Amino acid sequence: MIFVLSALSPEKMPLVLQNIKKVLKPNGYVLFRDYAVGDLAQERFSTKDQQISENFYVRGDGTRAFYFSNEFLTSLFKEQGLDAEELGLCCKQVENRARELVMNRRWVQAVFRYSDSVNYSPSSEALSKSDLCCQENIKPKADAEPIKDFVVDMSEGMAVEMFGALTNDTEVIEIELGGCDIKIKVLSKEYQHTCKSTGLMLWESARLMAAILARNPSIVAGKRVLELGSGCGGICSMVAVRSASIMVATDGDRTALELLNQNIISNLRPPFLTKLVIKKLEWGNRDDIDAIKAMNNEGFEVIIGTDVTYIPDAILPLFSTARELISSNKSAEKDQTPALILCHIFRRVDEPSLLSAASRYGFRLVDKWAKGSPNNESQSLISSWFPENNFEEHIPTSALNIMYFQLD
Ligand SMILES: C[S@@+](CC[C@H](N)C(=O)[O-])C[C@H]1O[C@@H](n2cnc3c(N)ncnc32)[C@H](O)[C@@H]1O
Repeated sequence: MIFVLSALSPEKMPLVLQNIKKVLKPNGYVLFRDYAVGDLAQERFSTKDQQISENFYVRGDGTRAFYFSNEFLTSLFKEQGLDAEELGLCCKQVENRARELVMNRRWVQAVFRYSDSVNYSPSSEALSKSDLCCQENIKPKADAEPIKDFVVDMSEGMAVEMFGALTNDTEVIEIELGGCDIKIKVLSKEYQHTCKSTGLMLWESARLMAAILARNPSIVAGKRVLELGSGCGGICSMVAVRSASIMVATDGDRTALELLNQNIISNLRPPFLTKLVIKKLEWGNRDDIDAIKAMNNEGFEVIIGTDVTYIPDAILPLFSTARELISSNKSAEKDQTPALILCHIFRRVDEPSLLSAASRYGFRLVDKWAKGSPNNESQSLISSWFPENNFEEHIPTSALNIMYFQLD
């Protein structure tokens, strides 16, 4: 079981082992390798509010990762009649100089035996301790028979996850939006949860919001639009620039901005390429805010932010920045009055503190939409953005929320 159990919720693990037992011969072995507690990736998860339960996390793409302690693993298998014959921790420091990443990876590797038979006596074929590599790279046993007729298909991603082998650190995601194919270069999956920056990948909320903008260009048509925390993808900005009068994509992270620049250059052609301006904007940073005000002193009529409200400490600076940059012009039409549109994954955000920060900076929640919520009135402003009975096409995960704010 190589990186199998960690993808499942801990409650389901006993059932998996019961099924494994059904196909194991008495005294048969389970060879196990998976993530260990204390792995750098786990530490990064802990700081990104992606925890589901103890040692269990959800990645940005919705897949799960459990981190095993020796005690948990031993008793999990023991309870199902599988005894640990060998158990060890594999540690490796993986370095990526280009991205200035040093990753201390930890995996647990074990051999369990199904001790069902009373007549069991360890055979000479049983694995010895020396077969387990518990410090550095796995090295093939010098005197081992070469394995014949056996092909190991190890994808690049797996090589990093399982053994810390370094591979290409970016990958391309292809998305079709409003008849245009967009190709976004992001940090490869295997690096995403080990990297400090959250801006080097594409989040579900950005996909939803970009799809909404592609279908409803009137949201931004002829307006001055700013995106907060665009990350490297910037797909909302790339769609909005087709109809907006001014489009500014921003982020506080320089690495994300570099990749964003590459993505914009490779996807847009003039005049949109020249119309989309990329600016560094760290929320609350006086110089950054002034630099943006200097290029547009009338303020923005639409400000968009997808998955930007998950860090509690950053919520107040986010609203204060939005307050400074949003236009104060009001219109009799609700959908023509300047708006701040935020989209997030429900479980990642503390909504009461979001609303209190909003009201502190003079923002009123005008409309709110949550997938699957019974309060979604069909005549509400946000609901009108979706084609009737056709939500699924746009919403890849089940917990997306959109909040529409205007100034009081
Ligand atoms: C979860 S990512 C979302 C990226 C993108 N909006 C998406 O949905 O794919 C959050 C983004 O907010 C940016 N961010 C976080 N805190 C920030 C701050 N204080 N100032 C500016 N940007 C910030 C991060 O750099 C990152 O790009």
